[in-house]
Amino acid sequence: MPDSRHILGIEGTAWNLSAAVFGDDQVIALHSSPYRPPSGGIHPREAAQHHAGEMKAVISEVLTDPSAIKAVAFSQGPGLGPPCLRTVATAARAIAVSLGGVPPLIGGVNHCVAHVEIGRWACGCDDPIVLYASGANTQVLGYLGSRYRIFGETLDIGMGNGLDKFARSKGGMTHPGGPQIEALAREGGTPISLPYTVKGGMDLAFSGGVVSAAQEAQASLEDVCAGLQETAFSMCVEVTERALAHSGKDEVLLVGGVGANGRLQEMLRTMCAERGATFYVPERRFIGDNGAMIAYTGALMLAAGQTLPPLAESAVNPGYRSDEVMVAGGIAVPMRPMPWLM
Ligand code: ATP
Ligand code: FE2
Repeated sequence: MPDSRHILGIEGTAWNLSAAVFGDDQVIALHSSPYRPPSGGIHPREAAQHHAGEMKAVISEVLTDPSAIKAVAFSQGPGLGPPCLRTVATAARAIAVSLGGVPPLIGGVNHCVAHVEIGRWACGCDDPIVLYASGANTQVLGYLGSRYRIFGETLDIGMGNGLDKFARSKGGMTHPGGPQIEALAREGGTPISLPYTVKGGMDLAFSGGVVSAAQEAQASLEDVCAGLQETAFSMCVEVTERALAHSGKDEVLLVGGVGANGRLQEMLRTMCAERGATFYVPERRFIGDNGAMIAYTGALMLAAGQTLPPLAESAVNPGYRSDEVMVAGGIAVPMRPMPWLM
């Protein structure tokens, strides 16, 4: 019999304050209030102020039946410094307490692992190599021995932050730059060539390409955008393909905000077709930061009895890495929710 009680999940590690209710294997409600800086990039304190101001409206939109909530989940990290994380954690604690009784507080939702889990759920894939490409993070992950192992990752900036930085350098483009670069690149004729940096076969670095692209003065903006995309995406596809070959897995899952990019999706789909692997990308609302990923991962953790007993243990963790999280049960077993440990 399905469990009809629900999990409230709150996400606000960076640009998007978003809440969702998950239950009965469905996203019952999802509502977001994105923070858009008037100029420049995202300032953590200003984003936190935005989240605090919007919290009541966002939560009220999804929390239509508080009596149905059996647990409250929030993303503990990684994130844009303590201000954003604390704002969300404080709201989650307050809601858990105010719901009376002891609806468990599920802290410890790792933002990166939540991107992966909602992607697996939304796409119905089991044991993928994951390209997690977002603003602050770029990692190639795969499940191995109770953890999502990081096979390769950026050694400097996340790919999305690199795209946003380039966009800011050109003026006229507001944050986030990724979608505008994609639109311009589509108009581009000849992508310019830029530094291609894959280190040790598995790790990536984006800042050299971003700086060169920003300094390019001859080529059209469209050609520079196309060059930036082709170079950065080819690097990611190369590392993803190598992880696929080494791990023997046959699925690729793309998650994280940059995953919305049609060209990146096309390049991964082509690589997968050539290797006989299946490519998956979730629907748009589950690609970038969203509350559903926190509510759903909270549901997995609750099913594994992984709650935070005292509120005191719900401290935020800005440097929380995906491979610190123990998961068990084997995602190779096509079974959800995956039993979580820890
Ligand atoms: P994380 O904490 O996981 O790093 P995040 O805070 O960066 O997450 P996401 O929503 O995962 O948030 O990713 C946002 C990034 O995605 C931004 O850098 C943005 O420019 C980029 N992005 C969004 N859409 C596109 C697109 N169509 N093409 C390229 N990049 C995109
Ligand atoms: Fe994210």
